[in-house]
Amino acid sequence: MSLLEVRALSKRFGGLQAVSDLSLSMAEGEVLGLIGPNGAGKTTAFSLFSGFLAPDSGEIEFRGRSLVGLRPHQICHLGLTRTFQIVRPFPHLSVLENVRVGAFARTASSQTAAARARQVLHEVGLEAKADVPAGELTLAERKRLELARALATEPVLLLLDEVMAGLSAAETERIVELIRGINARGVSLLLIEHVMRAVMNLSHRIAVLNYGQLIAEGTPAQVANDPRVIEAYLGEEYAGTAPG
Ligand SMILES: Nc1ncnc2c1ncn2[C@@H]1O[C@H](COP(=O)(O)OP(=O)(O)O)[C@@H](O)[C@H]1O
Ligand SMILES: [Mg+2]
Repeated sequence: MSLLEVRALSKRFGGLQAVSDLSLSMAEGEVLGLIGPNGAGKTTAFSLFSGFLAPDSGEIEFRGRSLVGLRPHQICHLGLTRTFQIVRPFPHLSVLENVRVGAFARTASSQTAAARARQVLHEVGLEAKADVPAGELTLAERKRLELARALATEPVLLLLDEVMAGLSAAETERIVELIRGINARGVSLLLIEHVMRAVMNLSHRIAVLNYGQLIAEGTPAQVANDPRVIEAYLGEEYAGTAPG
C-alpha cells in the first residue's frame, strides 16, 4: 500500500490556480523532494495535505484513508505532520513548553508530554536551550525547534517546508544530517527545499511544481537533467550536478 496518494488535487485562490490537477504518490520510508520556483504552489500543496486548506477537487489518501474534510489535528493524529515555512513559536513559552504542545498530540499526560519533549530536544540538539523562552532563539535554533515540535507529534510522514532557508552552510549540513537520521528511524519525508545540494542529496525522488502543475518527477539525476526543469527553475548551472 502506498503511504500517500494524491489524485487530481486542485486549489484556486480567486483567479489564481495555485495547485492544478496534482497527482503524486509516496511509498513508506521514502524521502520525496518537492521543488519549484517561488509561487509554484508548494506550500499550498502542504496546506492541502495537512488539512489547513480544503481542496476544490481531488483526493488525498494517507495509509489508505481519505484526508479530505479532516481537520489538521485529526490528520496529525493519523501520523501526518507539517512544519511551517514561517516559523512562529510561542515566544514567551520556553523551548520545552513549545515542544510539549506537539507532544500533546499523542498523550494527555503533561509528564509524558514533557518527557517526550525532552527526548526530542535531545535529538535535535536543543536540550541546552530547553528552559529559554523561544523568542530568544536564533533563526537556526528556531528551525530546530520547529522540527522538534513536529517530531514530538510522532509523525509517520513529516512535511518539511524550507527548514534550511536562511541557514549558514555549516547549519545546513547539520540539519541535513538530522533529517537523514529522522528518515533512518523510519519516518517518511516530504520536503520543500530551495537548497539544491541538500534536496538532491536527501531525496530518493523529486517532484517539480511550476504554476501549480507537476512538470517533472524522477530521481535527482533525472530531474536535474530534465530540460523543462532547467528552464522553469534550475537554470543551466545545476544541470548534471545531482548525485546518481
Ligand atoms: N491564502 C492565499 N490566498 C491567496 N493567494 C495565495 C494564498 N496562499 C498562496 N497564494 C498564492 O498562491 C500561489 C502559490 O503560493 P505558495 O503555495 O505559497 O507557493 P510556493 O510555496 O511554491 O512558493 C502564489 O501565487 C501565492 O501568492
Ligand atoms: Mg512556500
